Amino acid sequence: MNETVLVLDFGGQYKELIARSVRSNGVYSQIMPGTLPVNEIRALNPIGIILTGGPDSVYDDKAVKCDRQIFELDIPVFGICYGMQLMCHCLGGEVKQGNVGEYGKVSVLPADGGKPFLALMSHGDIVSRAPQGFRVTAYSENHIAAVECTEKKLYGVQFHPETSLTEGGAEIIRHFLYNVCGAKGDYHLDDYIERETAQIRKKAGNNHVLLGLSGGVDSSVCAALLSRAIPDQLTCVFVDHGFMRQNEGDEIEKVFSKRKLNFIRVNAKDRFLKKLKGVAEPEQKRKIIGEEFVRVFEEEAEKLKNIPFLAQGTIYPDIVESGGAAGAVIKSHHNVGGLPDTLAFSHILEPLSGLFKDEVRVIGQKLGLPKTLVERQPFPGPGLAIRIAGEVTDEKLEVLRQGDAIVREEIGKLKKRPDQYFALLTDTFSVGVKGDARTYDPVIAVRAVVTSDFMTCEYAELPHKVLSKISARIMSEVAGVSRVVYDITDKPPATIEWE
Ligand code: XMP
Repeated sequence: MNETVLVLDFGGQYKELIARSVRSNGVYSQIMPGTLPVNEIRALNPIGIILTGGPDSVYDDKAVKCDRQIFELDIPVFGICYGMQLMCHCLGGEVKQGNVGEYGKVSVLPADGGKPFLALMSHGDIVSRAPQGFRVTAYSENHIAAVECTEKKLYGVQFHPETSLTEGGAEIIRHFLYNVCGAKGDYHLDDYIERETAQIRKKAGNNHVLLGLSGGVDSSVCAALLSRAIPDQLTCVFVDHGFMRQNEGDEIEKVFSKRKLNFIRVNAKDRFLKKLKGVAEPEQKRKIIGEEFVRVFEEEAEKLKNIPFLAQGTIYPDIVESGGAAGAVIKSHHNVGGLPDTLAFSHILEPLSGLFKDEVRVIGQKLGLPKTLVERQPFPGPGLAIRIAGEVTDEKLEVLRQGDAIVREEIGKLKKRPDQYFALLTDTFSVGVKGDARTYDPVIAVRAVVTSDFMTCEYAELPHKVLSKISARIMSEVAGVSRVVYDITDKPPATIEWE
């Protein structure tokens, strides 16, 4: 058993970032509901507890609250945002609605006269008075920004140290783990593959296992792990919806054809395009693609009769997002991957369900998957279909595929690359002139963002030279494009994808 830090969730949007940053510091973390009874907390024997942010106000009757006794367990507690307010409220401090909310990067001044730093704030309520026995350790311009009671090992910050937008945030979390909780740092992934291989063999016995392979990082690593554990009992079905990027479908086939498993590629582009005919609304496109995907998969599963096990590349955030805590009944998140309950499988295998994305990438690398696959940027399940504004057609897909390949090639040459970059085909048409003739074609947009968590991002400040090269190449190499524009919007208020 690893030393564990419990992350008690009060509905904060950054709970996974907290849990992940704990693990990346070599300490195992587990996300549990904020209302977890104190006897269950004790049974898990954590070395520390972190209270997440959340949308509630502590003085509201309906607010989600923790058991007050958690502050008496002699276990260090670190409250973040709502977590700090809750701790102060429970221990006799005062929390009220602030005259001025703080949203975005705010300067925080340590009370000991240390250097001010920028921190992400996102709150309307404030701690207006710290509980007795607590010391205020930092202020923002208007409010209390951090408190502590070192004797009881209770700490709170109003800002979010778990996001990369807070300067020195990672060190704050590390300090809590090692200097306050006394962590040894015993969590690492070295023996994960051996342990999981044994588990898979034990669970599957002599049975056959079917895996839906999308070519994304999760399902690919899942396939590699299963093919190592039970090579002769595994069939992978890759449904190619036709919305992959240039050469991507073939590359996936190449990687897995070399491995020991039964690989089936279903080329279903025509079916998908037919279903999307005349559909322009983004959510509808997503829904239709999701449903058709299931249908194709079901048909394939039907042909391969008598496979009792379905494997899925579900990862820990999928489980947390679908409301289940680790160890929850499989059924509750069984359709996380978009597969319905009606599929006639009696067992589910999810060998990655305890891991975060970055951990999955490490396992993928250890299993010998190519870097291009393991380090793949996030790519939406519906693929290029949601990077084409309006109706999706074969012609538009081809234009976008070519434009996108140029964008990725040129930005990919940079030493310091943004975290995600791609092209979009807009439904805005503009006039151009090519070879003395008037043209009237759609506009391609380039999106490149810097982010560590994909929940917030800043647009990448690409060198103008790179943007010029991209534009020149797209205009000369891709037919049917009238101009190239660059998206300079952060998230929030925009999102990374356009649809
Ligand atoms: P947004 O557009 O919400 O995207 O800012 C955040 C990140 O999620 C990716 N994304 C998806 N990933 N299936 C996925 O697996 C999807 O349907 C999907 N939609 C968006 C997006 O590329 C970005 O990295």
